[in-house]
Amino acid sequence: CGIVGVTGSDNAVKILLDGLQKLEYRGYDSAGIYVNDQDGKDYLVKEKGRIADLRREVGPEVHGTTGIGHTRWATHGVVSVANAHPQVSQDNRFYLVHNGVIDNFQELKSEYLSDVPFTSQTDTEVVVQLVDKLAVKEGLNAHDAFVKALSLLKGSSYAFLLMDREDPDTLYVAKNKSPLLVGVGDGFNVVCSDALAMLRETHDFLELMDGEVVTITPDKVKIEDQNGNPVERKTFHVDMDASETDKGTYPFYMLKEIDEQPNVMRRLAQVYLSETGEPVISDKLLNSMKQADRIYIVGAGTSYHAGLVGKRLFENLTQTPTEVHISSEFAYEQPILSKKPFFIFLSQSGETADSREVLVNVNAGGHESLTITNVQNSTLSREATYTLLLHAGPEIAVASTKAYTAQIAIEAILAKALGEADNQIVAQRFDVRHQLGLVATGIQAIVDEKKKLEDLAKSSFLKTPNAFYIGRGIDWSVSLEAALKLKEISYVQAEGFASGELKHGTIALIEKGTPVIGLITQEKTAGLTRSNLQETMARGAHIITIVSESLAKPGDDIILPDVDELMSPLLSVVPTQLIAYYTSLNKGLDVDRPRNLAKSVTVE
Ligand code: G6P
Repeated sequence: CGIVGVTGSDNAVKILLDGLQKLEYRGYDSAGIYVNDQDGKDYLVKEKGRIADLRREVGPEVHGTTGIGHTRWATHGVVSVANAHPQVSQDNRFYLVHNGVIDNFQELKSEYLSDVPFTSQTDTEVVVQLVDKLAVKEGLNAHDAFVKALSLLKGSSYAFLLMDREDPDTLYVAKNKSPLLVGVGDGFNVVCSDALAMLRETHDFLELMDGEVVTITPDKVKIEDQNGNPVERKTFHVDMDASETDKGTYPFYMLKEIDEQPNVMRRLAQVYLSETGEPVISDKLLNSMKQADRIYIVGAGTSYHAGLVGKRLFENLTQTPTEVHISSEFAYEQPILSKKPFFIFLSQSGETADSREVLVNVNAGGHESLTITNVQNSTLSREATYTLLLHAGPEIAVASTKAYTAQIAIEAILAKALGEADNQIVAQRFDVRHQLGLVATGIQAIVDEKKKLEDLAKSSFLKTPNAFYIGRGIDWSVSLEAALKLKEISYVQAEGFASGELKHGTIALIEKGTPVIGLITQEKTAGLTRSNLQETMARGAHIITIVSESLAKPGDDIILPDVDELMSPLLSVVPTQLIAYYTSLNKGLDVDRPRNLAKSVTVE
């Protein structure tokens, strides 16, 4: 979900709608705004669907100087106008937008609000009705009613932005676990769940801590801690050009982001390698990691998949046993930890609630951790001991591409640094700078041949209900990501499979024409994966191969330039990104905003 707010601008409606547009990738099943002009006029507009649909509903009369807006990714309640935010109290006094989940909303409803008529199925409405009830019944002002309502929310996650019609130049803000920032302007202030939304208005932001309550007027931001004491905080500067979030001449962000990968690889080499090609990683981080007897990599979705590749890099180059875990699993089924664990959190956004839950536990256990993320000052970055930034530029398409390859590249650099610090010969021999150079030109060669992949997508994927990506070892890890891409944006039911395991059951699903794509980049398993492909072909499968040049044979479909086998995921994933892209595009789907998904999921 995405949140925006502004106070003190004649352009409130435009700022809110443009901000929501920038956040649309975070959730886009419905959206709404509430604005007030301080002259007794106010407007609430909500609509199902995209921000474009909301814009159509916002008539020319809608204007104001203060307002709040929201784009939703449904948690409680179906997608409908009634369930869209802002949610309103029964007397139309309070307006609230919310990201997160209120765990005890049913209890609050029956305990305090049994006489209140509800118009939505959302947990958010319970909170706004509760604020209203406390204000009216107990005679509390908006601030105090808000604070009291917050104290009644048990174990919940939230980012709230509240307006009171009786005090219409003020925004009330609070957060717990969900991200929220205040942007500071000259004579106006803004609120947003992601700085990207407000870069056209300001580059100076205040981060907020869990439990704080903030009162914002056009020229003042008052932060209070949990006990009501005033908090002084300096702004931080977000050094990003608003145009970096535009898609330029590209039809979709995803294609732009796929094409940016060679540059991201070069940038990472510049940022993290010295002129002689040695990793530039802080001694503190390396020392912490050196003491670890085991590395635990934690992530969700594509980041988890980048972790699977990371395991192979760390184990090969550093000889440190490495486990990879899905964050939502690790959070509640923590494995038995080694004596000296070190944790690596992989997260493009740095905000995924599942991963954050793990980090909270890791911190409580007194363990050290590193977050590898694309977003400076994100929650996971702030709360981990160390951070390495992906420097991939904003990733807007919901399906992650350049963040995945950037995560793997950083894992490679880090593994090299750690291995060298530990005098591992394999690490000393691993020329990461040379490899990243090969990877950059290799990706360029693949994206230059897009047409071939578009033809392949059109001929083999448009009609199929299902598909398989198979491989062994590191190729298997990539096959999981390849299948996820196809599922996410083209809705083909795809599976990534260990190719040797297919015959033990799943091969029953192979029918005439089922696409089975073999990833073949590892010399020791190339022949075996080829045999497994033959087994599926004998049962009617339509086989396609993605093969490193030195392992290629006549008749192979996609040939990848050669790189070190450990770096092969950085190349082999690219054709699979393009296959997913062109399948989605040629099915006429919204590539960047696939159904049901959100870019960053800040609920568990
Ligand atoms: C969401 C996105 C996925 C992403 C996952 C983890 O589910 O739709 O594309 O991989 O979150 O996100 P993170 O920001 O933690 O990498």
